[in-house]
Amino acid sequence: MSTGPLAELHDKARAVLDPVHYDYYAGGVGDEVVLGENEAAFRRLALLPRVLRGAPTRDLGVDLPGGHLDLPVLVAPTAFHRLAHPEGELATARAAAAAGTVLVSGVASTVAIGDVVAAARAVRAEASVWFQLYPQPDQDVTACLVERAERAGCTALVVTADSPVFGRHRRDAEHGFHDLPAGLAAENMRDLPGGPPGGVRDIGMSPSVSWRDLDRLRELTSLPLWLKGVLHPRDAVLAVEHGVAGVVVSNHGGRQLDLVPAAVEALPAVVDAVAGRVPVLLDGGVRGGGDVAVALALGAAAVGVGRPVLWGLAADGEAGVSRVLAVLRDEVDHVLALCGGRDLADLTPDLVVSRGTGVS
Ligand code: FNR
Repeated sequence: MSTGPLAELHDKARAVLDPVHYDYYAGGVGDEVVLGENEAAFRRLALLPRVLRGAPTRDLGVDLPGGHLDLPVLVAPTAFHRLAHPEGELATARAAAAAGTVLVSGVASTVAIGDVVAAARAVRAEASVWFQLYPQPDQDVTACLVERAERAGCTALVVTADSPVFGRHRRDAEHGFHDLPAGLAAENMRDLPGGPPGGVRDIGMSPSVSWRDLDRLRELTSLPLWLKGVLHPRDAVLAVEHGVAGVVVSNHGGRQLDLVPAAVEALPAVVDAVAGRVPVLLDGGVRGGGDVAVALALGAAAVGVGRPVLWGLAADGEAGVSRVLAVLRDEVDHVLALCGGRDLADLTPDLVVSRGTGVS
């Protein structure tokens, strides 16, 4: 991150966090090539603004299966928010609800999903919280997690498909960071079938997860189902054929396979393949309103932010997350005004060019 208000929050977070936890949040897989590329790829893209067609105020709202966003930015699922701040996901949920956007709450949250949704709804009765899960090797566990999310009042499920095995994070290995500190746990994994009574099961990854598991989830719930971690256009088509409500182009913030393209570079082919049948979201490397605008112009309906939210949370709890979302809202609005936009539909693919190659 370079300069600006979000960079300041990052620097403050880095100063206050235990360095082991900072590296857990900040790090990526392998040589961290993809981690760097996610941000660098945005720097290689430019916008060609249109002139003399703006409006006095701009509409930044987006309707998605599972909720309305007042700004085209939602909170991507990230694990263990109580490592960043004692209020953890409760603070994140309140800030997202106050900003009028969706929190995608992870299965690996340090607050149980029912309490996360209650915190969001206490701020804004119609707040939408989505639940992210990894299909578990034990189908009864997966079913139980889905039921908990439904009972909590979640309005969509996000199934993460890019993690058949855990990514290998060198920073964590060097620190010997494998377990949460005493007193913190993945609370959604408590009291599940096959686990110790009152105890917490490990979150499992399964290399044999298949489209059949996605179909089973479809049959288990009537909630809109998003598939997260799609990079190959053919998988995006399969996802649509298997009835998903939307697709999330993501490389897990550079934390899974260190050979993949930057998320924004994978976006156009997925958008083409999906051909408007379902909305496409993007996450990975979004660090300002300009990045949001570029992703939307390339066909994303909205974007997710992961680490910036963690930095806001660590730096200043709920107020820090609120600040991240307010900065992004303000920056998107400003860029849209400078592009002669009235609403997000005015961000179209013809506005995006590569730097250094002239107008395509
Ligand atoms: C993640 N991400 C993630 N994704 C997911 O589906 N389930 C999870 O439990 C987690 N956990 C997680 C922890 C941490 C510390 C990070 C940084 C990320 C990935 C996340 O949803 C998202 O794809 C990326 O964070 C987006 O990239 P940026 O915004 O962090 O660059």
